[in-house]
Amino acid sequence: MEFRDLVKARRSCRAFESTPLTDDQISAILEAGLWAPSPLNLQPWEFVVITDAQLKTQVKEIAEAARQSVVDSGGPGWAGKYGMDFIETAPVLIAVVVDPGKGGLGSYFDQKYGAMQAASACIQNMMLAATDLGLESLWFTFFAPQKMQAALNVPENLEIAGLIPIGKPKDALKAPPRKEAKVHQQRYSKSAT
Ligand SMILES: Cc1cc2nc3c(=O)[nH]c(=O)nc-3n(C[C@H](O)[C@H](O)[C@H](O)COP(=O)(O)O)c2cc1C
Repeated sequence: MEFRDLVKARRSCRAFESTPLTDDQISAILEAGLWAPSPLNLQPWEFVVITDAQLKTQVKEIAEAARQSVVDSGGPGWAGKYGMDFIETAPVLIAVVVDPGKGGLGSYFDQKYGAMQAASACIQNMMLAATDLGLESLWFTFFAPQKMQAALNVPENLEIAGLIPIGKPKDALKAPPRKEAKVHQQRYSKSAT
């Protein structure tokens, strides 16, 4: 797909067919992630590929518990209706794990997020690659990080930048609207055009 079309075609998907991905599809998605930029080219990411049904159920339960805690704390009304079945039906979940210690020279300048920024670029590359293969995905973060890390055996010094379900979308997906770009000329000003 042309880049300009691809970048607009990618959609967050919350209902998947259960058709498994091929090994080639998974490899192509991971490879796209590897080509993301990173501070000092440290490539601070690792991937956990989850296809095991029992583990997906465990992941879903951790996400459901997070959802319930939001509901119990008086969180937004939609949280009570947010279905998480897609975590089990998606044929694969890929956890992108990042080493926050690999943020490059940012540590000298109080820039704390270099590694997470790189992992985010990695995730976006992966999501675009999925769309290009006729699949869709979701950047999923609705879980208590420590519980998810424990379930996936991710060491405590690392972080999960996102859990990415990927598969064939069950339905056509509608694009949520975008705001106009707020652009400042030369310097930031109170009014942007
Ligand atoms: C860092 C990050 C975390 C997100 N976490 C969730 C999530 O936990 N659950 C979810 O349904 N969507 C999540 N999203 C997806 C956004 O809701 C979605 O990108 C946004 O509504 C725009 O829709 P689009 O991706 O189809 O363009 C997340 C997106 C980002 C970038």
